[in-house]
Parts: sequence; structure tokens; C-alpha cells
Amino acid sequence: MKLAIYPGTFDPVTNGHLDILKRAASVFGTVYIAVAQNMHKNPLFTTEERIAMIQNCTSQYPNVKIDQFKGLAVEYARKVGASVIIRGLRAISDFDYEFQMALMNRHMNDNIDTVFFMPHEDYTYLSSSTVREIVRFGGNVSEFVPEIVKNELIRKLRSDE
Ligand code: COA
Repeated sequence: MKLAIYPGTFDPVTNGHLDILKRAASVFGTVYIAVAQNMHKNPLFTTEERIAMIQNCTSQYPNVKIDQFKGLAVEYARKVGASVIIRGLRAISDFDYEFQMALMNRHMNDNIDTVFFMPHEDYTYLSSSTVREIVRFGGNVSEFVPEIVKNELIRKLRSDE
């Protein structure tokens, strides 16, 4: 059974990510959600908080594991014995960046392929930063993130109101 990793910053995880995960978990034997300790992005949530939220939303999948990584995704994939990197393609605007990253990753390790899933069309315009922004300005994100993520966003972003 093939092992795949699904890397991302997940700051926070959204229904779009979970949609990709559901599809990937039905195709691969095991999927590692690999939470990047991505300091360039200066995440709102700590790595531990991001992992806790993902754990809460993925307990129904026996073949999904959650981990964190630093450095190159291909290196992490090699370390855990994965032969596939999962990525989501939301719109054509994702393509250039994803194409470049997939080819560079393959250049670094030809044994690891990138497999793309398209999320449900309801989520094509969704991103973690959009969700953060909506909550920051008092909007409702119920249709974009699980309840627990919504509550965590409100706790973080509106605590000084
Ligand atoms: N649903 C909703 N949102 C989605 C989504 C989906 N299906 N897929 C992506 N997004 C959003 C993300 O939430 C993120 O939003 P944000 O920028 O507003 O926070 C945005 O789209 C970009 O997502 P993604 O491309 O997955 O970036 P990321 O920051 O989450 O993850 C890494 C990028 C960490 C996977 C990548 O940089 C990496 O592998 N880094 C390690 C170093 C490395 O190996 N680099 C590659 C060398 S070629």
C-alpha cells in the first residue's frame, strides 16, 4: 500500500484541505499530513495548535497520521518512506507554482512523485489567509472551516475586543 505525504502550513486547516485529504485517504494506504514549521509565513497558530486542530478534524480516518517537518518536503517524504507528495490544485492560478515545485522536487528525488487532487468547486477560492481575514473583521466562516477551527480563530483574533 502506498504511503503519501500531504504537506502544507495549514494555518489553519480549512474544509478545502479536508476535502483534498478525504480524496487522498481513499486512494493511498497511509497519508501523513505534514505540517510545515514554515517560519517565512509567520503563522498565526503555533505548530502544536495547527496539529491539534487537524487531529480534531481527522479522527475518522484510520489511515491518516499527523506529523510536522522542517526543511525540504522531499527529504521528509524519503525519511518516512513515502513515494508520493499530495498537493491540491484549486484553480489555474495554482498551476505555475505547483508545476515548478513538483518538477524541482522530482529533480531532487526522482523516486517521489507529486499527485494532484482538485478540491470540490465550493472551495476553489478558499485559502487560510482569507479565512483569517474574514474572522479578523467579524465575518462568519462557518461554511469554510470546522466548528473547532472557527472557535480557535475567534479566540486568537478577537480576544482583545
Ligand atoms: N483548500 C483551501 N486552501 C488551500 C488548499 C485547499 N485545498 N490548498 C492550498 N490552500 C491554501 C493554503 O491554505 C495557503 O493559504 P495561505 O497562503 O493563505 O496561508 C495557500 O493556499 C498556499 O497553500 P500551499 O501552496 O499548500 O502552501 P503552504 O504554505 O500551505 O505549503 C509547503 C507549502 C510547506 C508545502 C511548501 O512550501 C514546502 O514543501 N516547503 C518545504 C520546503 C520545500 O520542500 N520547498 C520546495 C522546494 S522546490
